Amino acid sequence: MQIISKDLTFAYNKKAEFNRQALNGVDLVIEEGDVFGIIGHTGSGKSTFIQHLNGLIKTQSGTLKVGSYDLSSGVKNKANVLKQLRSEVGMVFQYPEYQLFAETVYEDVAFGVRNFFPSYTSEQVDEAVQNALNQVGLDYNEIKNKSPFELSGGQKRRVAIAGVLVTKPKVLVLDEPVAGLDPQGKKQLMKLILNLKQNSVKTVVIVSHDLDEVTENCNKVAVFYNGKVVMCDTPKNIFNNVKELESYKLGLPITAKCTQELKKLGVEIDTNYKASDFVENIVRAYKNK
Ligand SMILES: Nc1ncnc2c1ncn2[C@@H]1O[C@H](COP(=O)(O)OP(=O)(O)OP(=O)(O)O)[C@@H](O)[C@H]1O
Ligand SMILES: [Mg+2]
Repeated sequence: MQIISKDLTFAYNKKAEFNRQALNGVDLVIEEGDVFGIIGHTGSGKSTFIQHLNGLIKTQSGTLKVGSYDLSSGVKNKANVLKQLRSEVGMVFQYPEYQLFAETVYEDVAFGVRNFFPSYTSEQVDEAVQNALNQVGLDYNEIKNKSPFELSGGQKRRVAIAGVLVTKPKVLVLDEPVAGLDPQGKKQLMKLILNLKQNSVKTVVIVSHDLDEVTENCNKVAVFYNGKVVMCDTPKNIFNNVKELESYKLGLPITAKCTQELKKLGVEIDTNYKASDFVENIVRAYKNK
């Protein structure tokens, strides 16, 4: 599913005296197959934008197409169309583990299945729950009867993601998916998210403040600032633009920072800023000196 947004604007409280636009005309194209990173200073509109993608926030003005769904302003979509859209565009909110509510992991994940597929037999529900838990690297038999509250932070988050995967979404949108996890936990969860792309998920959209994570994993990055997309390019081209990023109150991933420092010392390297590529280029530069 290709996602096209044109001149999307949104204000939370249109009637308020000091109303501030959360989105100020977002133009963006996300292609099927992208692992698309969305970065930007706090309050720049990232979360507001992504909640448009499955119709959680209704478009106030502008055009928004998600695959064959037209979510543009003025288009009325029936409840069953929005439900279908939400099964195809899975949304994982920030700290999704806070939304776990059922007594067992099984019941929590099954809730989504029953909600979206009310005609499923109990065997079909079982199968869907099992698949989703397997997809997030959890052992179904070991975990199904546990209370979500006796799990580790990382496990809880995986259960919450499983609850979204049960509908086999084609697009998976995640708001700060690795925030608050330890470095190892971050790495494992990111690996898992990328692995999902080999299954039903075709496109991944990640909102993140972690520029290292974005550089390492995304093929395309959009920078939000004041409710607009101000840059959209490969991580390499984005993080080459130090001055422009500064003007949008953004820093650099560690590999780009090091590249800048090396430049001051007279060592020029040409890297895409992924850790492995960066190291290779340093070694090459060292050997050539
Ligand atoms: N529920 C809400 N009611 C009113 N205003 C809101 C609401 N949610 C967000 N806003 C405002 O809309 C603007 C955009 O917020 P949004 O949450 O989309 O930013 P963000 O880029 O996701 O920020 P962060 O990086 O802090 O998560 C901000 O000015 C924010 O204060
Ligand atoms: Mg946000």
